[in-house]
Amino acid sequence: MREITKMSSPEIVAQRAQNYDHHYRTAGWKAERWTQEKVESFLAYAVDVDQGGYLNGREVQYGLRAVGAPDCAGMKILDYCCGTGITALYFALCGAEVWAFDASPEAIHIAAESAKLSGVADRVHFEVLDAQALPYEDGFFDAVFCQSALHIVIDYPKCPHELARILKPGGSVVFCEEGLGYNPLLKPIRWLRRRKWIKCGGRPLKYPDIEQFGQPFSRTHIQHFNLLTQVKTAFRRQLERQGGLRPWARRLLHGTEKLDRMLLRALPCLKRYCGTVVIVYTR
Ligand SMILES: C[S@@+](CC[C@H](N)C(=O)[O-])C[C@H]1O[C@@H](n2cnc3c(N)ncnc32)[C@H](O)[C@@H]1O
Repeated sequence: MREITKMSSPEIVAQRAQNYDHHYRTAGWKAERWTQEKVESFLAYAVDVDQGGYLNGREVQYGLRAVGAPDCAGMKILDYCCGTGITALYFALCGAEVWAFDASPEAIHIAAESAKLSGVADRVHFEVLDAQALPYEDGFFDAVFCQSALHIVIDYPKCPHELARILKPGGSVVFCEEGLGYNPLLKPIRWLRRRKWIKCGGRPLKYPDIEQFGQPFSRTHIQHFNLLTQVKTAFRRQLERQGGLRPWARRLLHGTEKLDRMLLRALPCLKRYCGTVVIVYTR
């Protein structure tokens, strides 16, 4: 039995935030300051899956649209566990009023500098907070977006209730996450990739975790991406270089995407082995 209370204690959260601070200070693009041009070109590239796009293109595109972007002017959006804040800046550049928080002071320091550089400091409010106790009023947000943190806050029992509390009725919280913990082929790859993040917390999600976290919400939807297309991680170098994928690799991934659609429609039991998921909880 997991010791949930111990894992969600303020001391553990602070210790993990310190470990994140270290990564944000030292880890390449994460420590970068974002100007408006950089945010726009990164996100245009990130969601431009037809051009090969970014490694998580299709799911990020789905997640951003589920929040209402890019037509989110006037909406109140929360970027939950925002890291250095690129999606918060994107929502603000789309005209939304944005709140964004993270437990890592270093991430929030970088994010606040980027907000000034990209000219949206008046529309995005960055704060250092613990997701377990949020200062926002009941029903304050139209939508909440979170990239890659559900696998950490999943063991913090107060989080789903806080999220449901701050959302308007009918509003959604959208989590973009790595695949679920069922695919034996992904386990060693994930272990290798996550080694340096081990002290930051987190674990692979399973369906019962997602269901339990969704208890305060009226609806849970899980969208699965990348069964065979998960091979794209082998093209990481190409995907990250200027110009994106080479034509042959692009054709290959378009082929695997078509196959994925057919396979997942014919055999839904394969969904659990997909490489990425977007989870949408609606209040
Ligand atoms: C994998 S990073 C993702 C960051 C960002 N969303 C992104 O996509 O770049 C997870 C983030 O969750 C934050 N985090 C973890 N536990 C938290 C908590 N209890 N409260 C606030 N933030 C937390 C970490 O500090 C870290 O920045």
